[in-house]
Amino acid sequence: MDRSRVKDLLAAEAPRDAVLVQGWVRTKRDAKGFSFIEINDGSTVKGVQVIADASLPNYDTEIHHLRTGAAVEVTGELVASRGGGQSFEIVAKSVLVHGNAGEDFPLQKKGHSLEFLRSIAHLRPRANLFGCVFRVRSRLAYAIHRFFQERGFVHVHTPIITASDCEGAGEMFRVTTLDGAALAAGKDAEDFFGKPTYLTVSGQLEGETFACALSNIYTFGPTFRAENSNTSRHAAEFWMIEPEMAFCDLEGDMDLAETMIKHLVADALENCADDLEFFGRFVDKELRARLEFVRDRPFERVSYTEAVEILRASGRPFEFPVEYGHNLQSEHERYLTEERFQCPVTVYNYPKEIKPFYMRQNDDDKTVAAMDLLVPGIGEIVGGSQREERLDRLAGNLARHGLGEAEYGWYLDLRRHGSVPHAGFGLGFERLLMFVTGVANIRDVIPFPRVPGWAEF
Ligand code: 4AD
Ligand code: MG
Repeated sequence: MDRSRVKDLLAAEAPRDAVLVQGWVRTKRDAKGFSFIEINDGSTVKGVQVIADASLPNYDTEIHHLRTGAAVEVTGELVASRGGGQSFEIVAKSVLVHGNAGEDFPLQKKGHSLEFLRSIAHLRPRANLFGCVFRVRSRLAYAIHRFFQERGFVHVHTPIITASDCEGAGEMFRVTTLDGAALAAGKDAEDFFGKPTYLTVSGQLEGETFACALSNIYTFGPTFRAENSNTSRHAAEFWMIEPEMAFCDLEGDMDLAETMIKHLVADALENCADDLEFFGRFVDKELRARLEFVRDRPFERVSYTEAVEILRASGRPFEFPVEYGHNLQSEHERYLTEERFQCPVTVYNYPKEIKPFYMRQNDDDKTVAAMDLLVPGIGEIVGGSQREERLDRLAGNLARHGLGEAEYGWYLDLRRHGSVPHAGFGLGFERLLMFVTGVANIRDVIPFPRVPGWAEF
């Protein structure tokens, strides 16, 4: 007999003589002569109810002793449920106990804190909230590939170990086989790759070389930042989606980012309804309304200069003063998207001093063709730009940022041979998940979070 998923049994249209389910016990309740066992297999947040009669041969020896967390395999008949709350239940013909759970199994009916769950590897994925989060994560990863593949973008696997610092912020993890003494003595030539290498902070520069041949590409992989910011929105290891489009300007870049966010939100609403309902009940009551709004309504766009004026005119006592030429802080981003516009906002044309070397300089000589897409509750979810395609300007930028032509010559070559206007962006996958699930801490939307001081499991 083939195994049925709990999700499919709960959605069944008719009773069935014989079904097989495999899963973990959520709860067990004993009545006179039988037990109710709720089983979950991770296919949906709900469990299926199994009725195990005391006449089953292993009732006294095993079934009666089942605890929350036990792994079981049940065969039986799928019948219309007599109790409320679910359409079908299983009357067991056999209950095979693969592994009971210990008396100290820590998952109780009442919820544990997310911090507590983070510290217990075997438990966390079995908690309802995390089951929902990681089903949505899986679905959205699939939806992202579909989104690009259906539009003819080529998936490029950019390297995880790299010698270039794309963002120029010096927040890289060094990858080395040198010991401490050799490192301190600067013996880089003796290192594994013959020079200093790092975990990538972005696949963009490598992505550009492929976009300038295959036209539209995207990357989707892990990225690493050794920034010591212990916030709810920063992780040291996170996943980024980076499309890059040749023959594209900032306008086209912003269009793609908005279209993509809308598309992904719509996909989650359509395909993760049970999980979103769970978040709506236990995490954020407004979630569904907000996601539908984002799916259906246009986003706003303002230039950085306009954004600064709006923030100044707000009369808000921000912790960080608003000044032209400074980065927008999270509190500023959230004011714009949550209060002033009450919808996602793309801020574009930032002062060149606060942006990386690769962004295209605008004619005003002050700003670059950068854009950040901000969403309520989080702030920046996408960062991107049109790239500087003019050789002399790019060479000047590299020099100004103290980046050597020796290391970036390969990147400059793209401007020497068939240079073309091109643009792209990076979408932070975990930030997207925070937005779609309403979960407030980035650590709770990634299977194994890595943040300063924490790399368990
Ligand atoms: O704005 P960022 O730094 O842009 C880039 O890396 C560009 N090279 C992207 C490109 O144009 N191809 O990062 C892009 C996005 C941010 O908007 C944010 O969503 C996410 O990556 N991000 C982080 N997410 C989690 N933890 C961190 N420490 C993050 N840093 C950036
Ligand atoms: Mg950014």
